Amino acid sequence: MAKDKSIYVCGECGGTSPKWLGKCPHCNAWNTLVESVAESGAPSGKHRFAALAPGAGVAVLSEIDAVDVARTPTGLDELDRVLGGGIVEGGVVLIGGDPGIGKSTLLLQALDALQHANQNTLYVTGEESAAQVAMRARRLGLAPASQVSVLAEIQLEKIVATLSQLRPAIAVIDSIQTVYSDQLTSAPGSVAQVRECAAHLTRVAKASGVAIVLVGHVTKEGALAGPRVLEHMVDTVLYFEGDTHSSFRLVRAIKNRFGAVNEIGVFAMTEKGLKGVSNPSAIFLSQHPQPVPGSCVLVTLEGTRPLLVEVQALVDGGGPSPRRLSVGLERDRLALLLAVLHRHAGVACADQDVFVNAVGGVRISEPAADLAVMLAIASSLRGKPLPRGFIAFGEVGLAGEVRPAPRGQERLKEAAKLGFSVAVVPKANAPKKLGKELEGLTIHAVERIDEAMAIVRGLDA
Ligand code: TYD
Ligand code: MG
Repeated sequence: MAKDKSIYVCGECGGTSPKWLGKCPHCNAWNTLVESVAESGAPSGKHRFAALAPGAGVAVLSEIDAVDVARTPTGLDELDRVLGGGIVEGGVVLIGGDPGIGKSTLLLQALDALQHANQNTLYVTGEESAAQVAMRARRLGLAPASQVSVLAEIQLEKIVATLSQLRPAIAVIDSIQTVYSDQLTSAPGSVAQVRECAAHLTRVAKASGVAIVLVGHVTKEGALAGPRVLEHMVDTVLYFEGDTHSSFRLVRAIKNRFGAVNEIGVFAMTEKGLKGVSNPSAIFLSQHPQPVPGSCVLVTLEGTRPLLVEVQALVDGGGPSPRRLSVGLERDRLALLLAVLHRHAGVACADQDVFVNAVGGVRISEPAADLAVMLAIASSLRGKPLPRGFIAFGEVGLAGEVRPAPRGQERLKEAAKLGFSVAVVPKANAPKKLGKELEGLTIHAVERIDEAMAIVRGLDA
């Protein structure tokens, strides 16, 4: 195959150069040029608009047929939940997560289930040999009956040729970082390679209707290695979360052109692979025989199901430059909450190390966690546990006000169902009258953080 010419594209201004330069000749930014393939006959300059689909006329929105996309359920309910019902023809899904968290396991299980539903599937492995994949299949109890096709290959052109020959309904590329194109001189795994290969596979998916799942590695900082542009290219981005040492895993949709985002799927890693957990609300609570200082349970609601998560804080004698560390919660948010605690509730931790952790490796991004985090910190500082059966939620503002969380009733209902008995919640979330489903729950409504602190002190045993 004749080699297409490489060009170098500036990540800042989009300008191009025929050779690599340290400084972009168009916008003078440093170190922004990355290798790319020049598209043959690609229109440029003022003729660029000719690239729009020919005959794509203007139509009035209401006259366009809104055809609902057809989805094929994977057979794994929790995965279908995050996908928005199942895989979509020609859809491209990017799935990221730490090594060893279960990406390959989940996808192999999904392909096997799809194959049993008479969908042709292809698993392209670039990280493991076909024999290793077969071993995993045996461990999962899929072999010897499994009809999933396996291809051990890392060269893009060969993968694409196999795709057009086999025309599977769904293909998994495990992982996109191992795939390389011989059109580019950059090393496999480099930004240019990953981007170009993902773009090429996306075009193949759209043109052929094959649904493609790209597995992506995550860097230490938690971002998908390689360019963020991968996230823009694909239709759906899923992230695996969870502590590899515990058995629970969350799969979260952070982008979905075919469904809701922030929906989560919950799995447990077992001897025989990942099993969906359909009623996950209580799995992130650690079991303390007695309430302990520094622990507060929060009800989060990301996606459609409420989850109860224990937040732990440890405040301990620091030094001149105390540390602030948070696992599963944003660190900047922690600094902000500490400032609010000091200013509006008189709780000072300025000379103390503060550690905060969401139990079970969950990541909590919603601000409704604020109140529980602050109560856990104050509890650790005072060395006094919160009462047994205690929950809290609510966003806390810079002025010390406690703001309502979305769908407070559902959160309270879930807590009551699980036997929690005391709740401190934003005033606007407190129900006017206690219905039957909130029986057994004493609800304290607060408008300010200092009120919440006073209530908690009043509950001290
Ligand atoms: P894997 O799917 O290989 O992770 P990734 O592709 O994200 O790197 O996950 C493998 C881990 O899961 C490994 O540590 C072993 C464990 N595991 C089980 O506990 N049970 C199983 O049935 C399988 C297949 C793996
Ligand atoms: Mg893997």
